[in-house]
Amino acid sequence: MVVENNVALQPYNSFGIVARAQRLVRVRDEADLIGLMASADWNALTREAPPFVLGGGSNLVLTGDIKPLVLKVEIRGRRLLEETARGWLVEAGAGENWHDTVGWTLEQGWPGLENLALIPGCVGASPVQNIGAYGVELQDRFHELDAIDLQTGQSFTLDAAQCGFGYRDSVFKHAPAGGKGMGLAGRALITRVRFWLPRPWKPVLGYADLERRMAETGMANPDARQIFDWICAIRRAKLPDPAVIGNAGSFFKNPTVSVEQCADIIARDPKVVHYPMADGSIKLAAGWLIDACGWKGRGVGNAGVYEKQALVLVNRGGATGGEVMTLAKAIQTSVYERFGILLEPEPVVV
Ligand code: EPU
Repeated sequence: MVVENNVALQPYNSFGIVARAQRLVRVRDEADLIGLMASADWNALTREAPPFVLGGGSNLVLTGDIKPLVLKVEIRGRRLLEETARGWLVEAGAGENWHDTVGWTLEQGWPGLENLALIPGCVGASPVQNIGAYGVELQDRFHELDAIDLQTGQSFTLDAAQCGFGYRDSVFKHAPAGGKGMGLAGRALITRVRFWLPRPWKPVLGYADLERRMAETGMANPDARQIFDWICAIRRAKLPDPAVIGNAGSFFKNPTVSVEQCADIIARDPKVVHYPMADGSIKLAAGWLIDACGWKGRGVGNAGVYEKQALVLVNRGGATGGEVMTLAKAIQTSVYERFGILLEPEPVVV
């Protein structure tokens, strides 16, 4: 296995932030990693700090060079494992591009992932974040994943319950709590993910943006390919393409508040965008809160707030991770001062 030194990470993070990995290993299959972990080099490579797992880098803010060993996941391969009257079981390597994988399933005639089109990043990151868009979350289509324990070198499999999915959350985002907690952050390297796409396929059309497309085109029964095309068009219209303008998608989670808290905010700001949740709480649109504080188009240094969607922070060219985080903190402060809500960032900050 080749250990590369002083590797530029700008191409490997969707924000396009300039930083370097002191040492980087590309993991192209499970045996690569298991072999490395069993070798004498492993102790030397990880003596000072546990390794850092890099997937598609689409949910990452780099605030400096990475000193721990970077394991860059490049495990490829996609296949159908099972087809029954009840659905399709599909597997993809963690290093496969997410959007290409969604497109591939549709081309094969296996619908179900279309609402998650054009989300940047790799398959391996999809359960970490429990990615979601337009009424579908990964957990709705997830079956199992395989991972390698970075402490023991053992392979293991987790089902949906064991992944502890929540809104943009999973066990992979939580630190192991002294052996008692369920957290696997920094502990597991996801190698493969299996999706269950149920039959008969049912479209998920409840979102206003999709309903608008249906009304405009007069198509009352769009197929999965049509929904995929609509989602791509909707996202392209309001979200910046990371290949053109560096960004990490939504920078903050949409916060939830109690009915009372929401009523307070409505009394002061009747236009606040809010959605009732199944558990009785209310979800607020963080983009609206940030927009209401006048942030759209503003920035700190070369980091800015995207003009068409205030929830997205962008790299206007040459932004540092420090500038992105200073901007994020300034936004948190002004939203807190006006609404009493502390916005929680989505990306991992390193
Ligand atoms: N809004 C504003 N001003 C803004 C931005 C939004 O007023 O600058 C308002 C919109 O008009 C709308 C509401 O806020 O009424 C919600 O906006 P939008 O429909 O764009 O969705 P979102 O809540 O901002 C979430 C996800 C997106 C996902 C979309 C569609 C989070 C943090 N973000 O965004 O996910 O694509 O819904 O389902 O949950 C991501 O996580 O990276 C991401 C892009």
